[in-house]
Amino acid sequence: MALQPIVTLENVAKAYGTFTALHSINLEIGEGEFVTLLGPSGCGKTTTLRLIGGFETADSGRITLAGADVTQEPPYRRAVNTVFQDYALFPHMTVAENVAYGLTVRAGRKPPAERAARVQEALSLVGLADKAGRMPQQLSGGQRQRIAMARALARQPKVLLLDEPLSALDVKLREAMQVELKHLHQKLGITFLMVTHDQQEALVLSNRIAVMKGGHIAQIGSPSELYDTPATPYVADFIGAANLLPATYLGSDGAFARIRLPDGAQLSGVAIGSGKTLKEGDAALIAIRPERLSIGESQNGAPLSATVADQLFHGGRFQLELRFDNVDKPVFIDVLRSSVAADGSVPQQGSRVSLSVAAPDVMVYAAEAVE
Ligand SMILES: Nc1ncnc2c1ncn2[C@@H]1O[C@H](COP(=O)(O)OP(=O)(O)O)[C@@H](O)[C@H]1O
Ligand SMILES: [Mg+2]
Repeated sequence: MALQPIVTLENVAKAYGTFTALHSINLEIGEGEFVTLLGPSGCGKTTTLRLIGGFETADSGRITLAGADVTQEPPYRRAVNTVFQDYALFPHMTVAENVAYGLTVRAGRKPPAERAARVQEALSLVGLADKAGRMPQQLSGGQRQRIAMARALARQPKVLLLDEPLSALDVKLREAMQVELKHLHQKLGITFLMVTHDQQEALVLSNRIAVMKGGHIAQIGSPSELYDTPATPYVADFIGAANLLPATYLGSDGAFARIRLPDGAQLSGVAIGSGKTLKEGDAALIAIRPERLSIGESQNGAPLSATVADQLFHGGRFQLELRFDNVDKPVFIDVLRSSVAADGSVPQQGSRVSLSVAAPDVMVYAAEAVE
């Protein structure tokens, strides 16, 4: 990584009793980056954040912040601040008192004049300078979220830790706040480490995403790297949408592979998606993004045909649920409304369609469980 590392985790593990929440994680975050930990509930995201914040102690391994080993340091000795999932505002304190809180205690203690200036500045950053005298319960959910941000920023941390910061908000507000969060990150230039289970949020906001699964990091990379070259079917399925279908591996042609599809058709020039070695005749999984499949045969495309099981209207696009012969799982494709024929017709339920996909847009993996 070209950037100076500001947070590093080296072989960090954590168990709660006999349950291992984190299995020897390695992570390096560059100064000024926006990194997201993404994964389903229970995969160890909050645990990772709490270890960095100092609210849990690692069983083994090493954590550094700005070059210093903080593995055994208490939270107030770490140059990080956390925005908690439930905001954790003090209900009996005004907005200004909440934001000032971190400046009145322990290592963060500041003289009153500086405290007032920092509170004002932090509230201005989140656009709520006029709400300083309010009580938390007099604010909307979105405003409370911003106060929690302001409180964390008032201490001017080097790294801001955000645990599902927008998950309590409804969809419209969440989308608006995503844009604000991104702008705030750009404006402040400090490092953000966010946790979310929402892949769309992770894609929109992050410089890099670490996809987690069962206490491991499954893959880390930029949003487009993860989307275009997922390392496993799990990542392909978790980031964006992916059609995963069974296939048989037939061998490689240099960097590409030959496969047999469930209907018996063969396809060569397929992208090899995983490091796991496939041998001729092995059961495999192929992943195809919905937008890479299109209706209509092409000269060089794979000869796929399927039956339309359902047609789902999404406004600007249709989603077609398709069934291939000999495959139980449905396959979904997107048809933009602007791309359908002038008469507006979209293949109806029960009709037979031909599909094409460019071979390099098919990724083949060793078959593995995708839970
Ligand atoms: N204090 C705790 N005691 C026991 N188990 C815990 C504790 N905190 C978390 N866990 C367990 O560790 C796993 C990871 O939790 P967590 O890091 O909170 O997941 P995530 O934030 O990804 O949903 C979960 O199975 C959770 O039940
Ligand atoms: Mg969590």
